[in-house]
Amino acid sequence: MKLDRFLAKQSSLGRSAAHRLIAARRVAVDGQVCTDNQQEVSRFHQITLDGTVLQRAQRALYLMLHKPVGILSATSDPVHPTVMDLIDDPDKHTLHIAGRLDRSTSGLVLLTNDGRWSKRLTEPLERVPKVYLVDTAEDILPEAVAAFAAGFYFHTEDLTTLPAGLEILAPRQARVTLYEGRYHQVKRMFHRVQNRVTALHRESIDGIRLPADLAPGQWRNLTVEEVGAFGVSA
Ligand code: URA
Repeated sequence: MKLDRFLAKQSSLGRSAAHRLIAARRVAVDGQVCTDNQQEVSRFHQITLDGTVLQRAQRALYLMLHKPVGILSATSDPVHPTVMDLIDDPDKHTLHIAGRLDRSTSGLVLLTNDGRWSKRLTEPLERVPKVYLVDTAEDILPEAVAAFAAGFYFHTEDLTTLPAGLEILAPRQARVTLYEGRYHQVKRMFHRVQNRVTALHRESIDGIRLPADLAPGQWRNLTVEEVGAFGVSA
């Protein structure tokens, strides 16, 4: 939201009164006087008028978790342990998951309380690459590479999957790159080439890789660079 709109809404002043306050240098954003009516502000900014706090800044959280197999990608569940049970940040109740994994899948999960940031990650049109390491029950046939690149028609959703990358690493192991996130997508794609996924692990989402030293069940805050990888500043 623009600063003038925030002020107009906040104090029922109207837009021109908001402009006058801003021009008179009475409004500060994160402690700095702001004279730009069009300054973009969100709930993560502190905004003051004559030193009085109109809005306290909420802490923006961006974190990665190494989800172990058996943990649910959900914020709460009456039966199964969830990713939230693994996080001990005091503001964890504000988090949402930017792209879930199945309970039987391990690997990189991103969580945030910034909806603008996570939208970019989960928006199908953005085509953010997600890379998975896959073990299979049967040998992976070379023809599968072309089949993954061509896409599969999924009857339930009435859609054809976007071209996906398949790199065969060993007879029963591959690296798959998806540019969308359909329900059980990797498992369903292997099913369509007469194979079955026995283990699935997400290694990366766009520029963010699960580090080797982040053990299953551990989490850490994203670095400023990792947050910036998705084009919205922290
Ligand atoms: N594809 C799947 O089948 N499961 C996941 O958890 C992620 C991608």
